[in-house]
Amino acid sequence: MAKTMLELRGVTREFTQGSETIYALRETNFSVKAGEFVAVIGPSGSGKSTFLTIAGGLRNPTRGTVTVNGVDITDLSKKQLSAIRLKHVGFILRASNLVPFLTLEKQLQLFDKVTGAKPNKKALNTLFDELGIQKLRKKYPSDLSGGERQRVAIAKVLYSQPSLILADEPTASLDTTKAFEVVELLARETRERGKATIMVTHDERLIGYCDKVYEMHDGVLTERKAHKKQKV
Ligand SMILES: Nc1ncnc2c1ncn2[C@@H]1O[C@H](COP(=O)(O)OP(=O)(O)O)[C@@H](O)[C@H]1O
Ligand SMILES: [Mg+2]
Repeated sequence: MAKTMLELRGVTREFTQGSETIYALRETNFSVKAGEFVAVIGPSGSGKSTFLTIAGGLRNPTRGTVTVNGVDITDLSKKQLSAIRLKHVGFILRASNLVPFLTLEKQLQLFDKVTGAKPNKKALNTLFDELGIQKLRKKYPSDLSGGERQRVAIAKVLYSQPSLILADEPTASLDTTKAFEVVELLARETRERGKATIMVTHDERLIGYCDKVYEMHDGVLTERKAHKKQKV
């Protein structure tokens, strides 16, 4: 049996704005296992990013519990949370957080600096090849197009070998061909390395690679039962 990498139980998130309460996420039960690639689809403002940031311990739920790789993270301190994130969670966000003064290869190796690990030259090389950014390894983020920057952000996350990958619209700035390539790579990494990956997307065309699809509407997450994986 594959290991459960993420579990949400009764997770609710409310925001208060003046006298108004916004229910961004309602009573959510969800889990994803190692080797599973899951899509979350839904309109803007439906709660997708709230769900993803709570799943990765970037934000607290109002109620409910979140378990990452067997550890209940709900009541951890900030310091404990960042240790869990560093070890287990890789976020791919739309506004990729690249360091402006580091070349792309230094960018990836930043992870080794932080953890004290030995740089893995082979893994670095493979990722640069797979993402089509080999020629860019000595360049700086400001030299790149939006799409290239997005691929570097993905390489950076994959290089850190997280057990849980949380991607918020990872293909938003890519053309169709590149978008498919990136999703295919995420699917392959997930399957071959036993990661658990959640991808938030607007794009129905990309979900053929996913094992399961969930729909988010007004903070309510439901699994789409009719979904059939098409591509392997
Ligand atoms: N920090 C915040 N303060 C107040 N309301 C927020 C905040 N973050 C999100 N929301 C509200 O929560 C709802 C869900 O937002 P979000 O999770 O960003 O949706 P999505 O990612 O699907 O577009 C929206 O109504 C949004 O306005
Ligand atoms: Mg969002």
